[in-house]
Amino acid sequence: MADTSRGTYWITTFGCQMNKADSERMAGILESMGYRPGEAEDQADLVLYNTCTIRDNAEQKVYSYLGRQARRKQENPALTLVVAGCVAQQEGAALLRRVPELDLVMGPQHANRLDTLLGQVDNGQQVLATEDHHILEDITTARRESALCAWVNVIYGCNERCTYCVVPSVRGLEQSRLPEAIRLEMEGLAAQGYKEITLLGQNIDAYGRDLPGITPAGRRQNTLTDLLHHVHDVKGIERIRFATSHPRYFTERLIKACAELPKVCEHFHVPFQSGDDALLKAMARGYTIARYRRIIEQIRELMPHAAISADAIVGFPGESDAQFRRTLALVEEIGFDLLNTAAYSPRPNTPAANWPNQVEDHIKVERLQELNALVERKAKQRSQRYMGLTEEVLVEGINPKDPSQLMGRTRTNRLTFFGAAGHGIGDLVPVRIDRVRAFSLSGCAQAQPALVR
Ligand code: SAH
Ligand code: SF4
Ligand code: F3S
Repeated sequence: MADTSRGTYWITTFGCQMNKADSERMAGILESMGYRPGEAEDQADLVLYNTCTIRDNAEQKVYSYLGRQARRKQENPALTLVVAGCVAQQEGAALLRRVPELDLVMGPQHANRLDTLLGQVDNGQQVLATEDHHILEDITTARRESALCAWVNVIYGCNERCTYCVVPSVRGLEQSRLPEAIRLEMEGLAAQGYKEITLLGQNIDAYGRDLPGITPAGRRQNTLTDLLHHVHDVKGIERIRFATSHPRYFTERLIKACAELPKVCEHFHVPFQSGDDALLKAMARGYTIARYRRIIEQIRELMPHAAISADAIVGFPGESDAQFRRTLALVEEIGFDLLNTAAYSPRPNTPAANWPNQVEDHIKVERLQELNALVERKAKQRSQRYMGLTEEVLVEGINPKDPSQLMGRTRTNRLTFFGAAGHGIGDLVPVRIDRVRAFSLSGCAQAQPALVR
C-alpha cells in the first residue's frame, strides 16, 4: 500500500521532450510513493528540478531557482530538494558542493530509480547518482500532463559526437527499448484513452542498432521503420509521431513507411544545423547539404503535404558571414514549417568550446535575429497552403484566449482553433481552414471527414 503521508511534490522541467517524458515518469513514481501534486512550488514538501544544459542560459536558469529553494530549506529542513536531468549529470558532486542543501543529485539514466534514491535520502544520506546505468524498464505508471497525447521513449542516449553538443556526455550511450515493451506501453496508453503517441529519441534513426536481429536477406531488423510497422495497429491510437530524425541515418524506407502507414502523421523533424558543408564537417554531422536536400526532395515526392521542421545553430565557431548566408539560403529554398534556432553556446566537455575561432556574441545575436525574421516569413508562406483545405484536428483543449473556441493540432502539427459547438476534447474533427498565421490556423468544423494527404 502506498504511504499517503508523504506530503506534496513539485516538479519543474527544463529542456527537451526527453526531459518532459522523464519528469512524467518521476511524477508517477512520487505518486506511487504517496506524494500528492502540490499547489505551489514554495509550499511543496519535495521540489524536483529536472534540468537541461544544452545551452548556457538553460543551465543558469536552474541556479537561480535553486537559490530560492536552498534558502527555504534553511528555514524548513524537512524540505526534500532534488536536482535531476542533464545539469545534474554534468555537474555531479560539484553541484552538491555548490548547493549543500541538496538531498539528491541524479542523472537522467537514474530517473526510473527515484524511489530507491529517495529511500537513501530517508536514511539521512545526501545522494549522488550519476554513474553509467543500464536503464531498467519502469513498472510505475507515468503521471502524464495530457490525457490524450503521450511521449514514449524508444531509445535513450546518443552515440554521435557533434562537436557542439553536450547530450552524449550527459545522456550516455544509446539504449534501445525492445519493440514488445514499446508496444505494450502503447497498448496501456490506448486503454487509458490516449490517442496520439510521439516516439522519442535524440537520434531516433539509431533505434535498434544495439538490439540483435538480422533478416534472412541480411538487413538489420529492429529499425525505426520496423518499429513503426510493429506498433502501428495498436487499437485506439489514432496518431503516431516520432522525433528527432538525423539526416545522416534517415532512410527512404522510413519515408515510404510513413507514406503507407495511415496513423503516422505527415510531419518530419530533421535538424540540419547549418547550410554550409564546411561547418557541417566541423560540427561532425556526417552529411552534406546535398544529402539533406535529397531527403527533403524524397519527403516531398512521397508526401507532398508533409510539414518539415528543423533546428539550426548560428555563430558556430568559425562561421563566416558567407557561411551564415548559406544557412539563410537553405531556409529560403526549403521553406520550413517551423525552425528552432539558437545561437551557439560553448558547452563543457565538447570540442568546439575550446576552439579559438569563437564568433563574437553581438554577431551571433544579429544573425539569430536575421534568421528568425526569415523563419517567420517562410512559415507564413507555408501556412498559406492550408487555406480552404479540410484538416483533421485532434482537440486538446479550449483556446485560452477565446473560450468559445477549441484548439488542437493538425496531423502536420499546426496549432488550429475553431468554434467549439458540438465538439469536445479528444475528438478528431475535420476543420476547414479559413485563416492562416505563421504558426497557427483557424477554421470551421465540417461534417465531411478530412482527407489524409
Ligand atoms: N539530437 C538532435 C538535437 C538535440 S539538441 C539532433 O541531432 O539534431 C536540440 C538542438 O539544440 C540541436 O538540434 C541544436 O540545434 C541545439 N543545440 C545543441 N547544442 C547546442 C549548443 N551548444 N549551442 C546552441 N545550440 C545547440
Ligand atoms: Fe547532440 Fe548530435 Fe546527438 Fe543530436 S545527434 S543529441 S546534436 S550529439
Ligand atoms: Fe537539454 Fe538534456 Fe534534453 S541537455 S535538450 S534536457 S537531453
